Amino acid sequence: MNLDDITAFQQIDSQDMIGQINGLPDQLNRAYEIGKTFPLPEKRKFHSVLISGMGGSAIGADLVASYLQDNISLPIIVHRDYELPRWAGEDTLLVASSHSGNTEETLWTYDQARQRGCAIVAICTGGKLADLARKDGVPLWQFDHRHAPRTAVGFSFGLLLALFEQLGLISPVEQEVDEAVHAMRNVQTNLGIDVPVTHNPAKRMAGQLFGRWVVVLAADYLAPVARRWKGQINELAKAWAQFEFLPEADHNTLAGLENPSAMLMNMMALFIQAPGMNSRNQKRIELTREMFMTQGINTDMIVARGEGKLAHIWTSLLFGDYMAYYLAMAYGIDPTPIPILDAFKSEMASV
Ligand code: F6R
Repeated sequence: MNLDDITAFQQIDSQDMIGQINGLPDQLNRAYEIGKTFPLPEKRKFHSVLISGMGGSAIGADLVASYLQDNISLPIIVHRDYELPRWAGEDTLLVASSHSGNTEETLWTYDQARQRGCAIVAICTGGKLADLARKDGVPLWQFDHRHAPRTAVGFSFGLLLALFEQLGLISPVEQEVDEAVHAMRNVQTNLGIDVPVTHNPAKRMAGQLFGRWVVVLAADYLAPVARRWKGQINELAKAWAQFEFLPEADHNTLAGLENPSAMLMNMMALFIQAPGMNSRNQKRIELTREMFMTQGINTDMIVARGEGKLAHIWTSLLFGDYMAYYLAMAYGIDPTPIPILDAFKSEMASV
């Protein structure tokens, strides 16, 4: 494994995944700007917002919901399943978010939301969802992006942020977006493929994860970032990973650090920390990490960079994307194709 062999990277990475990761700051910026130009539903009074999506299209919603928690006075619920909750009805805004526009769970919720009289916005690049929205006169937020859905996290996040802003549900966050984009560009100077392992913390972390069972732990507004890291390790490196949220993990997961001991010795626990988190959660991260170490488990921690929550979310997310990319390189695996997921989708479509 030589994580400085850029020629080998180019051979493995057949569809320029690294270009997508490098482009995330621009993508976030662009999504937020174009989102301000898209149409809104006629009905503008809601008691709740449900964002329906799966995988790469759902994670942006998780991140937005946790970022806006302190700034918005109505609940935002991310829905990753078929049946909508009973309470979803005329007072609900349903945002159907599917990169391809063809994800069956999301299309199912779209139909249900139509039947229940919810206000709806459809976010996609095309597919059946775009066709339905056009036919039904539902506001269609169609964006152009020709790579894997998980690489469009800047779109799924930035468009939602602009939607909430346009609806008057939050005050403008332009300054925070600029700050986050700036902070992302700053951290990129240490994380890119041309930065050698000796100076590149994402490459070093990937080296530590090689051959190990990975668990990512975070709290507060960084909890969805742990989930993103897990998903990127799965989909880019085709490697097993899981996520855990604090404080909850301190009430059960910690008790499981004894068995099976052989497997736990092969675990790597990653903690994500930020200065803006609740001070008790910050203490918890440190103490929980100590507990893992006392049990003989390998750990590492990164501290999010930049000023403010949005910058913390995006700099730590970006770190995870680079780290998962380098893990894919270490395993010699093309980070873009996901043959098992594609085969499963076709199998489901045929039954
Ligand atoms: C693939 C990926 C997946 C998809 C998910 C839903 O890159 O990230 O997790 O996002 O299968 O598909 P879409 O986003 O098309 O609704």
